[in-house]
Amino acid sequence: MTAPSPASSGTPDTLFGRMNDPSASAFLKGPCGDEMEFYLVVRDGRIEDVRYYTEGCGSTRRCAAAVAQRAKGATVLDALALNPRDVIVAESDLPAAGWHCAILAISTLFRAIADHLLQR
Ligand code: FES
Repeated sequence: MTAPSPASSGTPDTLFGRMNDPSASAFLKGPCGDEMEFYLVVRDGRIEDVRYYTEGCGSTRRCAAAVAQRAKGATVLDALALNPRDVIVAESDLPAAGWHCAILAISTLFRAIADHLLQR
């Protein structure tokens, strides 16, 4: 599947797409109706790999890519310290109407982490 890159700063969007055999995953629908999926491979308390999938707008893709990039390689505990504000500040030209996209992306990541934690 080929999908357009998110409207971000030119960072390759290598984390877009579904994962066949994740160790944890989550799906959420935002209040706008957009859907978000996160897939994780967690080993020894570290998120070794991440993928996300959404058919939402450019802001949704952009925020999910930013969250996935921050989560990849992080410990589970550090990933739980991520927050929408960090994404919004880093994506400085993200309009306020897109801030909820950052909330949806972070929320879906947290839900995937919860899926991991409940398997232990
Ligand atoms: Fe709703 Fe981005 S427009 S999550």
